[in-house]
Amino acid sequence: MPKVLIATEKPFAADAVQKIKTELENAGYNYSFLENYTEKSALHNALADAEALIVRSDIIDEAAFNAAPKLKIVVRAGAGYDNIDLKSATAHNVVVMNTPGQNSNAVAELAIGMMIYMARNKFNGKSGTELAGKTLTLYGFGWVARYVAKIAKGIGMDVYAYDPFISDEVIQKEGVKPLHSVEDIFKLGDYISLHIPATEDTKKSVNWNLLSLVKDDAILVNTARKEVIEEDALLKAFAEKKKFRYVSDVAPDNSAKLLELYPDRVFFTPKKMGAQTSEANTNAGIAAAKQIIAYFEKGDVKYKVN
Ligand code: 3PG
Repeated sequence: MPKVLIATEKPFAADAVQKIKTELENAGYNYSFLENYTEKSALHNALADAEALIVRSDIIDEAAFNAAPKLKIVVRAGAGYDNIDLKSATAHNVVVMNTPGQNSNAVAELAIGMMIYMARNKFNGKSGTELAGKTLTLYGFGWVARYVAKIAKGIGMDVYAYDPFISDEVIQKEGVKPLHSVEDIFKLGDYISLHIPATEDTKKSVNWNLLSLVKDDAILVNTARKEVIEEDALLKAFAEKKKFRYVSDVAPDNSAKLLELYPDRVFFTPKKMGAQTSEANTNAGIAAAKQIIAYFEKGDVKYKVN
């Protein structure tokens, strides 16, 4: 039976691990876990006999594929697969999948939580503001953005979205108002929430052309990827827009400078934690195990991304 390696530098919650094991055992599959590893060599050694691989944000590059001669499939238990070298995967005849939607509610709850945290002055006890009645603009309208929209509407925010790949009808069906340019996202939002993947096209795409448009007191929320922001432009936005604030689930490379210059106007989680819930880990982990089983048993490639 196929041998599955679950390699998670940032491990799944314990009950998620148990459920993944049960799923694989019920299918009669062999498995092993490599958790909290710090050296690439540990990953490479573990890959030597793996036919299937489940990962989170773990970097799976050319060297990893070279170390995995039996590998047939990698499932990224989560949404973003920018950590996987798709060209190399294809060259090694390895199928890559993600598990769209499975951890999205957790990320959405964190995005809303970070908005409230900033609106209430990082819970310092001083008078803050409310989210109700404010305009929220969503850049990208995938699963996370849709969950954010649902919660934000419940709070009473006025929600808009722009996604070049999604029709107005789909956006409107979720009770959200479609926008037709990325500039409008940045101009209109009291809260601007980023939900775009990190690709060659989007990296550093949130640049001064866009950040120059934000309101003086806008709050930019990034639970997507730090790479989509052009960090010098971010610094400039702080200098020019006196009440502009930025919250991010992953600290930018210039976080020390931002924290030093604008301690009240930035917040960064210590470690990427959008999907760090038991529920998200369970949903994404089980989905990954099921997709591997469906691939080997039925050739199912529904969630293939390469
Ligand atoms: C994702 O792309 O699914 C999220 O960013 C979560 O990533 P993680 O599994 O590394 O926490």
